[in-house]
Amino acid sequence: MIDVLLGLQWGDEGKGKIVDYLAKDYDIIARFQGGPNAGHTLYVKDEKIVLHTIPSGVFHDNIINVIGNGVVIDPITLEKELESIKSHGVDPTSKILVSDRAHIILPTHRALDKASELAKGKDKIGSTLKGIGPTYMDKTGRNGIRVGDVIKADFKERYNTLKEKHVKLLNQMGFTEDIAAYEKGFFESLAALKSLKVINGEYYLNNAIKAGKRILAEGAQGTMLDIDFGTYPFVTSSNTISAGLCNGLGVPPTMVGKVFGITKAYCTRVGSGPFPTELHDATGDKLRKLGGEFGATTGRPRRCGWLDLVALKYSCMINGVTDLIITKTDVLDDFDTLEVATSYIIDGKATDQFPYEFTTENIKIGYESHAGWGVSMADCRAISDLPQTFMNYRKFIEDYTDVKVSFISNGVAREALIEL
Ligand code: GDP
Ligand code: IMO
Ligand code: MG
Repeated sequence: MIDVLLGLQWGDEGKGKIVDYLAKDYDIIARFQGGPNAGHTLYVKDEKIVLHTIPSGVFHDNIINVIGNGVVIDPITLEKELESIKSHGVDPTSKILVSDRAHIILPTHRALDKASELAKGKDKIGSTLKGIGPTYMDKTGRNGIRVGDVIKADFKERYNTLKEKHVKLLNQMGFTEDIAAYEKGFFESLAALKSLKVINGEYYLNNAIKAGKRILAEGAQGTMLDIDFGTYPFVTSSNTISAGLCNGLGVPPTMVGKVFGITKAYCTRVGSGPFPTELHDATGDKLRKLGGEFGATTGRPRRCGWLDLVALKYSCMINGVTDLIITKTDVLDDFDTLEVATSYIIDGKATDQFPYEFTTENIKIGYESHAGWGVSMADCRAISDLPQTFMNYRKFIEDYTDVKVSFISNGVAREALIEL
């Protein structure tokens, strides 16, 4: 079987930390979508590490980490990540496998991402500008270049054909950038990609399942950024939901076991787009400060707000979440009252359903108040240490979403986690 762990909000729920913790129970960790737009933070011996392309099981012995066909790879970012994990004593070649079907982000994809955002002006997505959208566009447009193509004799020719097409587009958009400088680094970084073992991911993983190996699929971004079910068009360009793992790894839905869904105890979003529970006041600033809410990939300040149960329940439904994980509970230590969104009021009518037209302007929020913890969550070590105030909050979330909370996270360290 293959379990999956994914974000239920707008990303950055703490997936990296939780995968790093759960990895001990698995033989293989596999990324199935997204690319260097992701930033998954984990701590190895008190040192902070941010992974973008490499699965978060890489710091465990005896775990294989697969970069699946659904991922888009920027060889330059990958090379940097490989150097970073090597500096921590990890030999990537024995631990990381890459699907031959994963698509490659070219220097011109990054330029196109920038050009597209510039053209959108005030309506920009707030993309990480890593070339994600243009690369997935070339994938669905049937123009893309895949990992398996890199070793082919005609790679350079194919590269040039696609590049020329991009350059024409960039010229039409009136966007100029020194691609040559970036291109040099791109070609140099291909050696790092080639140093990894390239596999047929679908055979590898299906055979592993047959052999009884335990696999955890690691999602990137979050459900609210899903191309189909997120807050379109302010989304990323892949299916971030549990169904995405079938496309992104080549395993059938009948093999999917647990679906771990991660939510923060509050909400954040980075980039543009609707966020009805966003706090534009001192409370929002306090959440940002206490939660260290700055993007792991771009360093941008994250927008902060209260937990939105309407959106969370929708996410649980779309993903078929079997186990909820609530992270960053310690960040709320210092709040006397916690608000939770339990209904949307649209055109004067209250609903608990997530609408097609999701804008901050057309949705008023119905909140319910909860007492703050009154104790330091970070100091809790076991379920018996947890205050009743938290247990009430947890029960309220469970009743609303109809999913059990399996773990709560109360700090950045791997061990700062309580199984309920
Ligand atoms: P990801 O993209 O889902 O992996 O999440 P990020 O790494 O982008 O952002 C999560 C941030 O929260 C990181 O800085 C983590 O170190 C931190 N974090 C994760 N869980 C907790 C927690 O329970 N408490 C606190 N205070 N920080 C946490
Ligand atoms: P992890 O895996 C948070 C957001 C961007 C932007 C939108 C589109 O760390 O949770 P893109 O670069 O994909 O074109 O950006 O999606 N975004 C993320 N926000 N966490 C992420 O990944 C994100 N990946 C993309 O900020 O709003
Ligand atoms: Mg992140």
